[in-house]
Amino acid sequence: MFKSLSTFSCTFLISSYLILGSQNDKEIKQMIEDDILNCQAEIEELQKKVVKLIVGEVKTDQNDIILELSCGVGGAEAMLFTRDIFNMYIKYIQYKGWSHEVLTYDKTVEGGLRKAEIEVNGDFVFKYLKYEGGVHRVQRVPQTEKSGRIHTSTMTVAVLPQPSEIDVVIQDKDLKIQTFKSQGSGGQSVNKTDSAVRMVHLPTGTVIECQESRSQIENRAKALKYLRSRLYQKELEAQLSQVSNARKLQVGTSGRSEKIRTYNFQQDRITDHRIHVNLSHIEGFLNDGAELDSLLEDIIDYTNNQTLEALIDEYHQNLKKQGKMKK
Ligand SMILES: *[C@@H]1O[C@H](CO)[C@@H](O)[C@H](O)[C@H]1NC(C)=O
Ligand SMILES: *[C@@H]1O[C@H](CO)[C@@H](O)[C@H](O)[C@H]1NC(C)=O
Ligand SMILES: *[C@@H]1O[C@H](CO)[C@@H](O)[C@H](O)[C@H]1NC(C)=O
Repeated sequence: MFKSLSTFSCTFLISSYLILGSQNDKEIKQMIEDDILNCQAEIEELQKKVVKLIVGEVKTDQNDIILELSCGVGGAEAMLFTRDIFNMYIKYIQYKGWSHEVLTYDKTVEGGLRKAEIEVNGDFVFKYLKYEGGVHRVQRVPQTEKSGRIHTSTMTVAVLPQPSEIDVVIQDKDLKIQTFKSQGSGGQSVNKTDSAVRMVHLPTGTVIECQESRSQIENRAKALKYLRSRLYQKELEAQLSQVSNARKLQVGTSGRSEKIRTYNFQQDRITDHRIHVNLSHIEGFLNDGAELDSLLEDIIDYTNNQTLEALIDEYHQNLKKQGKMKK
């Protein structure tokens, strides 16, 4: 398919260049040049479509997710950075027209963020956000730093695809539910009633505790949601072990400990370590979903390319094994 596409494009381009060479009329020359550019862009789009068709889509791409943000090394500054990244994702969710619910927002007195969990619902949420999982690093002079020294801090993103509809069935008889008094931390007032819930899923031994809400009914509903998603993770991991190596890239589950992006404020530079690109204009990147979206599209194209490459390799290996390839 590539070959015929490029044969077509070559024939077209060569004939255009021939006409171009013999043209003296400026206007016609410009028209032909525009045509060539348009065609090249169209060919690139078609090639991307062909790659998508071959590589295919992963079933989980359509899933909603829970986005987990946690501060990493760097103390108060890491927590301020975690808040900045939280705000970036909220802007991105709005840009994509998705909806969200903040499940946890564990903030510090300085306005930083220790940990947050956001449920994100919409079209192909996992497809776009799955490559955001990993360590994000910031290099800047913290607001609190008097001597103007640049600090390096980190935060971690985890992206948990959520089961859609009836992906995970939980039987009532498999659940053991206990209630206890919530241990409200910090400034929160401690409730005197048994509003906290501990839920045990007997077949798997999975334990979930939830005391975020003051109402036992809400905590119970949340615990069930967390349990469902935890069981789904286990199922996905089991499925992943069956997936061919060539397809693993596509699933976007590269180690959570991997450093994926650096935000350097001094040089106004964002480096994405997967596709090795530098972008400028950090403020815009953090505040305008379009720039993150364009980077994510590039990462998706890059992954599709890598997957295609791996699939072709696998195909070659198989042919060799069957002795169908000339040495
Ligand atoms: C404690 O929890 C109960 C039941 O969930 C709720 O009605 C009540 O308002 C809570 N009290 C406080 C002080 O939060
Ligand atoms: C990105 O910037 C860093 C630091 O200036 C530099 O070392 C690296 O080579 C740049 N990468 C690309 C792809 O331009
Ligand atoms: C696609 O992958 C191949 C091999 O991994 C690489 O040589 C090529 O530069 C990649 N192309 C793009 C556009 O990323």
